[in-house]
Parts: sequence; C-alpha cells; structure tokens
Amino acid sequence: MGQKVQGTEDLYGGYMRAWQRMQDTARELFGAYGFDAIETPAIEQVDTFVHGIGESTDVVRKEMFRVVSGALFGDLLEKGTEAGLKPRQRMAMRPEGTAGVVRAAVENNFVPQGAAPAKLWYAEAMFRGERPQKGRLRQFHQVGVEWLGAPDAAADAECIIMLMEYFKRLGFDPSKLRLYINSMGDGACRPAYRDKVKAFILDHKDEMCEDCLERAEINPLRAFDCKNPRCHEVMADAPLVNDHLCGDCAEHYAQVKKYLDEAGIAYTEDPTLVRGLDYYTRTVFEVECEGSGVGAIGGGGRYDGLMELEGGKPTPGIGFAVGFERIALALASQGVDLEGADPSCVYVAGIGAETRGAVFSATLALRGAGVRTEADYQGRSLKAQFKQADKLRATLCVVLGPDEVAAGQATIRDMATHEQVQVPMASLADEVKARLA
Ligand code: HAM
Repeated sequence: MGQKVQGTEDLYGGYMRAWQRMQDTARELFGAYGFDAIETPAIEQVDTFVHGIGESTDVVRKEMFRVVSGALFGDLLEKGTEAGLKPRQRMAMRPEGTAGVVRAAVENNFVPQGAAPAKLWYAEAMFRGERPQKGRLRQFHQVGVEWLGAPDAAADAECIIMLMEYFKRLGFDPSKLRLYINSMGDGACRPAYRDKVKAFILDHKDEMCEDCLERAEINPLRAFDCKNPRCHEVMADAPLVNDHLCGDCAEHYAQVKKYLDEAGIAYTEDPTLVRGLDYYTRTVFEVECEGSGVGAIGGGGRYDGLMELEGGKPTPGIGFAVGFERIALALASQGVDLEGADPSCVYVAGIGAETRGAVFSATLALRGAGVRTEADYQGRSLKAQFKQADKLRATLCVVLGPDEVAAGQATIRDMATHEQVQVPMASLADEVKARLA
C-alpha cells in the first residue's frame, strides 16, 4: 500500500471544506480591499528564492525542496555537483508565495511607471523540508496577499487591519489573538544595526551556541530566534532595533502605530521580532492564538527592496500569509468549527427497474436547477434506497413508482417528518426548490 510523504496531508471531506471556506472568505474580504487573485507556478528557478528570501536564511539553506528533471537526475548523482546545471535547470518547490509573486510582477510588469499599485492574493500549497510536527508540515497551505507599489504607512496598517478582520470572519475570538509588530529598519539603518548585533554576539561567544556563532557571520539577527535557552537569555541584552532606526524608518513606524490605534487594533511591540526571511524592511508583524500551541498562525511585513532583488525597478511592497493547517488547529482548540456540516441533498428513488429512465431524467432536471441530487446506481430496493438517502443526509426524497411515472406525477417525501405530497413531474424542480427554501 502506498503511503503519503511524511509531513503531507490529504485534504478531503470537512477538512477540504474548511480550506475552501478560507479561500471563499479571502475572496470576499480581500476583494473588498481591491485585491485580485493570482496563481504562480509551484516550481520556480532556485535563484528566485535565493535572491528574494536570502541565501543565508534557513528556508533557502536547509528547507527548500530542490527539483531536477528525471533526465538530469542520474547525471547529477554521477557528477555529485550541480555546478554544471544552467540556472533554468536548477528549480525548487516554492517554500512561500512572496518571491514568486514578485518575480511574476517583474516579468509581467504589473506595476509600470505611474500605475496604481498591484494588489494580489493567493491560496496555494507551499513546501518546506522541515521536521514534521503539530502545525509544521512539509506541504502546507497559505492564503496570502502582496501589495506592490504602495510606500505609505497606511498600506501597512490596512494590511494588518484586513488580516485581523480575516481572522475574525474565520471565527476567531479577537480577544484570544496576539498581534506582534516591529520595524526592522531599511537599507539606511539596518546594516549598522546588524553589525552591532554581530559584535554583541562575538562579545558573548563563549555563552552562545555554535549555530548562533555561524549566524553572527551570515545573519546575526536570526540569533534572536534561537531556541537555545542560554542564547535566548544572552540575546535579551542585545541592542534593539528600535533604538537604531533612522529618522525616516522611525517616522514610518510611528505612522503605522497611529493608524492601528485609530482603527482600534490592539498590538504588542516586540523589538526582537525579526522574521525568518531576509527581504523584510521596516514593518513586520506576526499573529498568534493564545493557547493553541501552534506558534504563529500568520505573519508578514514590508519588503521595499524585493522587486529590485528580483530584477525589477525599485518598487515598495507589503503583504502577509496565514497558514491553513495552523488556523484549523487553533480554531479547533477554541471549539470553533471551520468545517461546517456535511452537505445535504435530494435523493431520487425509483420503484422497479422500469422507472430507471424516469429517475435518470428527474435527477438531471434537479441538478440542472442547481439542486445537489443523488440517486441509486446499484439496483437497491425502495427500503434500501431510503436508508441510503438518510446516509447521504437527504432532506427530501423524490419517489417514482410505475403508476406515477405513467401519470406524469412524482411523490416528494420529507425525510424528517415523512410527510408525502404528489406533484406534476413538469414542475418537480420548482416544487423541490420551494420546499428546500
Ligand atoms: P511565514 O511566516 O514564513 O511568512 O509563513 C506564514 C505562515 O505560514 C506562518 O505564520 C504559518 O502559519 C504558516 N507556515 C509556515 N511554515 C509552515 C509549515 N512548515 N507548516 C505549516 N504552516 C506553516 C511567509 O511565508 C511570507 N511569504 C509572508 C509574507 C507575505 N510576507 C510578505 N508577504
């Protein structure tokens, strides 16, 4: 028997309905904010992620699933190096959505000079080679947005407001949500801050883990996220980004907070929130759900340098993504049902083989009128058909006997009350719809 890959899940039944509900809610809410849907390929050239997410990030260094065509695979194993591969032959499954959307925006010129910002949302599977655990999968699903061409702090605030409204519409109790925000500075102030954190780590090198010493060289801010308790303790005294923002970044951050205050959005400032992707500048944010035990259910931020890193003109950007699987777990921990009930239907039952043609026509007519309709395809007795109708959660049964068919009539049976009424076959769909309404 085949087995699914570790850290992947089959989406079906109620779980699939929950994922669809997240997409429907996103389409409705994000649509009101002017966002259009986009789908980019699940595989991109490795360089798209290296340029965007950053060569030194865990996502790029350790977690990307690399893809080579079958034809090249043997060759690669034999040579033991990918050095001979052309950039277009070096591919990876997307670990996140932002880099691909920005690549698409550059390639298709979504934000030409002087144009209005591009506002895009997506609902897609993402792939990260992480160690699977609760709320951490190798194939997971994100709903995300990317807003390209809007430098104003109001865009940051609107993104966050829309995200919190999204959680509310999915059924979260807002008092259980914790929104953390920070500003990471920009090209003007971050390099000097980075150097300060690096110097701090090196000053404490005897107290910190090997990973953090490596981080000091390639990505010192990641040391704030180290899981080692001792590193955590040491980093509590490290220089904080808030004290090192340049004037423009400090002003931008103050504006974002002012807009959030005006909108009545509660937040906690966390000067150690650095996020795991290198493209962020200025505002970053993450949301957790109290007591859910799954970590961040969503996160995002501003990435004003990313379009250039992907080969485009300087264009600011901001966005966020939320994780479906973590949201499902967090809502379940609050006793909220995202899945909804199994759908009900109308069941068309026939008495005797000679009514099969009439059952076939009635079934098609009801489906044509938009009614979810089921019938018997296994030659069952009437009693067995009623049983089957109950299993399929039929609210009504249409019963067709030989005499009724001859008279152009049909019986509608209410499955809850067992009340029956005869109606003309010609108006069956209208009669059924009236009763369902
Ligand atoms: P991220 O924080 O890496 O950001 O992922 C966003 C969300 O995806 C997380 O908060 C979490 O809910 C979910 N997630 C991440 N990794 C996993 C996993 N292995 N298993 C299950 N769920 C996971 C981004 O991906 C950015 N692209 C967000 C963004 C958009 N920033 C700007 N625009």
